[in-house]
Amino acid sequence: LKVAFIGVGKIGQTIAYSVIFDGLAKEAILYDIIPELPEKFEHELRHAIATRGLDTEVIGTNSLDDVNNADVILIMAGKPRKPGMSRRDLFVDNAKIQIDLAQKLPPRNPGAIYIMVANPVDMMASVFMRFSKQFTISTGDQVETMRLRSFIAKKLKVPVNKVSGYVAGEHGEDAVVLWSTVKVNGKPFDEVAKGLSKEEVENYVKSIPGEIIRVMGGTTWGPATIIKDIVRAIALNEGRVMSIATPRTYQGEIVHISVPTVVGAEIGPSLEPVLPQADKERLNKAVEDFYKVYKENLDHLLQTI
Ligand code: NAD
Ligand code: MLT
Repeated sequence: LKVAFIGVGKIGQTIAYSVIFDGLAKEAILYDIIPELPEKFEHELRHAIATRGLDTEVIGTNSLDDVNNADVILIMAGKPRKPGMSRRDLFVDNAKIQIDLAQKLPPRNPGAIYIMVANPVDMMASVFMRFSKQFTISTGDQVETMRLRSFIAKKLKVPVNKVSGYVAGEHGEDAVVLWSTVKVNGKPFDEVAKGLSKEEVENYVKSIPGEIIRVMGGTTWGPATIIKDIVRAIALNEGRVMSIATPRTYQGEIVHISVPTVVGAEIGPSLEPVLPQADKERLNKAVEDFYKVYKENLDHLLQTI
């Protein structure tokens, strides 16, 4: 697989490292606008690759001309939020970057699949797809899904592989835990919760990235490994169910909302039709809310560019 990494700051670097060290990329293209950054990062990766004798070809570049014929393109280009900010506050700045990339990347990369990582990630995926007309997914709530499982495992003192369940909706404050899917040792959450409240779990999932950002300056290892797994599912045609956001049309606009979805060489189908009615209603509400905020931001942006 030829994989392009657009924006190799904090999260871009960790994703590139993870993808390469899982042996998923025959070729890795590292692109950023900061002079010399991709080139020096290329050296770092080459040194790391030498330890294993991997045969990945790595190219670090400041020229989009070198980003060509990629199979998978991950977009991490954009500002990260600072403590106290919402991801949505990044909309205008990061959407401008996506609109620019949406015009430049597709002609050089026919048939590529795009994976949006920059925040607000679902809205950035919608913006990129609107302007590029290329199939784009958002890493969405797969990150929340793993945060949910890890927290329940820790609190209930069970191995994390005994915890299943998904978070859906928007990546961020409005994420929706699909409680009907949450099981510990195959038993519904309510039967095993032992005083752990749903509210505590939901609070953790929504607040922990902000806490990590406050202390560590950004989230990296968690999301990078999870996002690498999305690339892995595509590259190895795993057919793994992951809560990523795929495009759907709502009121004439492309919108991205996470739902557990089969991820392989093909993306889909989603498991939305088999979710209980209550979960479907919460998801429909998430689509409605997303559309409202997205449309407001988009219309405002379109007036300014
Ligand atoms: P960062 O500032 O460390 O890196 C961003 C990089 O993007 C910088 O190197 C910058 O030069 C580059 N960039 C800016 N404009 C560019 C352009 N037009 N073309 C190419 N590169 C460009 O920030 P970070 O911590 O790596 O976060 C990057 C983005 O990813 C943020 O929006 C952040 O919120 C998001 N993020 C998302 C997830 C997720 O789960 N989806 C996880 C972590 C971070
Ligand atoms: C995350 O959830 O780790 C990312 O979206 C970064 C952030 O929280 O802003």
